[in-house]
Amino acid sequence: MTPQTLTFEPIAYAETCYRERFGTPRQPGLAPDAWGVIRLRPDLNLTDALEGLEGFSHLWVVFLFHRNTNKAFKAKVHPPRLEGGKIGAFATRSPHRPNPIGLSAVKIEEIADNAIHVSGIDLVDGTPVLDLKPYVPSADRIEAARGGWTESRPERFLDVTFSDEALDRIESLGRGNGRRDLKALIRQTLELDPRPVFYKGVPGRENPYMDTYGFGLEGFNVVYRVDGRCATVLRLENWSEFAESRGQRT
Ligand SMILES: C[S@@+](CC[C@H](N)C(=O)[O-])C[C@H]1O[C@@H](n2cnc3c(N)ncnc32)[C@H](O)[C@@H]1O
Repeated sequence: MTPQTLTFEPIAYAETCYRERFGTPRQPGLAPDAWGVIRLRPDLNLTDALEGLEGFSHLWVVFLFHRNTNKAFKAKVHPPRLEGGKIGAFATRSPHRPNPIGLSAVKIEEIADNAIHVSGIDLVDGTPVLDLKPYVPSADRIEAARGGWTESRPERFLDVTFSDEALDRIESLGRGNGRRDLKALIRQTLELDPRPVFYKGVPGRENPYMDTYGFGLEGFNVVYRVDGRCATVLRLENWSEFAESRGQRT
């Protein structure tokens, strides 16, 4: 069969709380407070296509891993939970695949103004969305499903504490204006330990990075330190200033 080139256009873009790949949860639902807004492209006039979706609690989002940086596909990948081990890409949910297409089931919070507000998202801000489908429990929930190598691998690795400086900053932001519980969101995100394997170190080759880490969440660079199994949130920096100092567009 002659391979075809298939062309698709995004139907929507996801605005999410995560500014970069680092820090974004590895699967949907792991950080239940992680928020996103899937905004349909106004020029496509898709509002009527949302009719009836309000009866569903969850949504499949089919999207493009547009922030992948690697060009060449590798058949075996290093999933973080295998701690240095390799496995076939099709036995993983790695973003690095022959066609960089992702699939996430997220919770629908609200549908309004040509947009779907969701939670539990694992997409980076600005992700192009190719399709949306309702999660249909009678078809999608498979009671006898097996989890292969993911069974017996923990999802949460770290305990999270906050410095007084970080707590004061979070407190000063308040909860007005629809702001969610930022402390809970930071905790849910860091418990998962976003660091790739080579940042964490492996037995015999310990963590080479003893300094601090940071991840982009909403308008902040959340700076933290890891000691053993404990992550301490040190401070919240202004994201734009941080990104500018790094010489990057925000
Ligand atoms: C392991 S993938 C799983 C995504 C989806 N649930 C799936 O199974 O296809 C999740 C990771 O993809 C990365 N990611 C999310 N959105 C991305 C994007 N638009 N481009 C590139 N990488 C992205 C983040 O680092 C996140 O931790």
